[in-house]
Amino acid sequence: MTDIKELLLSRIRDVADYPEPGVMFKDITPLLADPAAFTALTDALAEIAANTGATKVVGLEARGFILGAPVAVRAGLGFVPVRKAGKLPGATLGQTYDLEYGSAEIEVHAEDLSAEDRILIIDDVLATGGTAEASIQLMRRAGAEVAGLAVLMELGFLGGRARLEPSLTGAPLEALLTV
Ligand code: PRP
Ligand code: MG
Repeated sequence: MTDIKELLLSRIRDVADYPEPGVMFKDITPLLADPAAFTALTDALAEIAANTGATKVVGLEARGFILGAPVAVRAGLGFVPVRKAGKLPGATLGQTYDLEYGSAEIEVHAEDLSAEDRILIIDDVLATGGTAEASIQLMRRAGAEVAGLAVLMELGFLGGRARLEPSLTGAPLEALLTV
């Protein structure tokens, strides 16, 4: 494992049985609190933004905001938030997606995206891929091109990568860590 991967992994805390029994929660707050680790993460994601030729960074509420906003600044790009439904005041595009129980909806301000944009979507964790899949659909419906999806951590055993393959249509899925 490279030095940066070891550093990032060492700052992620496993919390058993949270938020419900049987789930091992990946807590990134120790990483955020460590300036060396947070800077290394931001630099690594900003490099991906440059390599994919992204014109904007889209962060997925809430933890994708924390990771994505400094990446946008570091890469010299704009930042566009994808929010949980009901939080954006302007004209929005919405996308619903299925959860284990029920469904959820995410929204974006359509005016912040255009056909000229190539979007790097950033989130902390790729689990089942439901959130990421809905955000990719949202970008396409807004007319923007998806340059790629970058996450700090992929939970490989949940099969998110395979689920996203059809919607990514060749755009890269970059996971700095796979657990
Ligand atoms: C978590 C995580 C990802 C998503 C991954 O967000 O931050 O966004 O779940 O799960 P999936 O691949 O199965 O869709 P969550 O909405 O739980 O919390 P947050 O608002 O703290 O980011
Ligand atoms: Mg999230």
